[in-house]
Amino acid sequence: MIVCSCNVLSDQDIVDAVACGITWKQLVRKTKLSSTCGRCAVHARSIYERAKAGTYVPLVPEKEK
Ligand code: FES
Repeated sequence: MIVCSCNVLSDQDIVDAVACGITWKQLVRKTKLSSTCGRCAVHARSIYERAKAGTYVPLVPEKEK
């Protein structure tokens, strides 16, 4: 599922980044997530935090994309 339409980032991209140990600031700096129009900021941060806690399950598994 696309979370950030400005930068074409999916929830799976966020989950993968978290699995690599990236911080929120690093993710934003690297991808511009939530920093173009800002509409995705709350949702993206929520996914990031839940992925970090291990409680987020992507809506569409990577292998089905
Ligand atoms: S939708 Fe993510 S910055 Fe615009």
